[in-house]
Amino acid sequence: MKNYTSINDIDNLISWIEEAKEIKETPLKNIQLGKNKTLGLLFFNSSLRTRLSTQKAALNLGMDPIVMNVSGDAWGIEFGDGKIMNGNTAEHIKEAAAVVSQYCDVIAVRAFPSLTDKEKDESEYVLKSFVKFASVPIVSMESATGHPLQGLTDAITISENSTKKKPKVVLSWAPHVKALPHAVANSFTQAMQKMEVELVIANPEGYNLNPEITKGTPIYNDQEEAFKDADFVYTKNWSSYDDYGKIRNTDSNWMITKEKLGNAKFMHCLPVRRNVVVEDAVLDSDRSLVIEQANNRTYAAQLVLKKILEKL
Ligand code: CP
Repeated sequence: MKNYTSINDIDNLISWIEEAKEIKETPLKNIQLGKNKTLGLLFFNSSLRTRLSTQKAALNLGMDPIVMNVSGDAWGIEFGDGKIMNGNTAEHIKEAAAVVSQYCDVIAVRAFPSLTDKEKDESEYVLKSFVKFASVPIVSMESATGHPLQGLTDAITISENSTKKKPKVVLSWAPHVKALPHAVANSFTQAMQKMEVELVIANPEGYNLNPEITKGTPIYNDQEEAFKDADFVYTKNWSSYDDYGKIRNTDSNWMITKEKLGNAKFMHCLPVRRNVVVEDAVLDSDRSLVIEQANNRTYAAQLVLKKILEKL
C-alpha cells in the first residue's frame, strides 16, 4: 500500500484489526521503524483528535511529525490546471505538493468538502492533486467524501466491544445546527460492509447517503424500528446528499436518548453537540464508547503509517 485515502485501500480488514490490537498492546514496539522519517500533517480544516492522534502515532513509530494549518498559514493554493493565477491563489498545487515532498517522507492531508458543488467535491480534487503531484505517500485525514482513519478506528472499536459473532450495528442520523459532510458516515458504512455485522442505516426521508456507498445496506426512515435489537448505535449528522449540502430536517425527535439506546453501545466520532445530537445521559453513561474510539484513533493511524513505512 502506497497511499491510504479510502477504506478500499484496506486489503483485509479483519487482519488489520488484529494488527491494530497488537499495536495497542505494545505501541512502542516499532519505534525504530520511522527513525529519521518525517510526517507532514497539512490541515485545511480544524481538528482535535486527528491532529493529536496522528502525531502521537508518528511519535510511537519514531517519526518526526511537522504540522501546518494550510488554510490560515500557507499561501493560497491553486488547484486548477492551466489557470491564470491573477486572483487570490499565490501558489499552484504542482509546486506546493512537490515542495512539501522535499521535507516529508509521508504527507497527511485534511480537506473537507464545500457542500455546495457536489461534482467538485466528489472529484476529491485536493486529495487527488496531492497524490498526483507529491512524490511521497499520501494519507487522508478526512477528505470530501471519506474519513478512512475514523472508519478503521470504528471497526477496531466494534471488534473490541462485540460479544456476538454477528452484532447488529445501526448507523443513525441525528439532528445538527450546521450542514455537515458525509465523510464519516461513508467510511463507517464501507468499513462495516467489510465486517461480519448486520448493518442498517436510519435516516429521515431526503437524507439517504450516496447509493454507491450504501449499496444493498437496508435504510429505515423509522429510527425506532431500526434500533430494534441493536448492539451498537453509531450516530452522526450529515447534510442531505440528494439536495446536496442542505439541511432539510432539524427534528429533535431524532436525537439519541438513553431510552432509545436500550442495551446498545453508543458510538460517535466526536466532536459532538450535547443535547442536540445525543443527550447527556447517554454520553455520561457506561454505554458510551466515544472516548475508547478517540483512543483507538492513535492505533489506527499507527497501523496505517507502519504499513506505509514498511514499503518505503
Ligand atoms: N473525529 C475526528 O476526526 O475528530 P477531529 O475533527 O477533532 O479530528
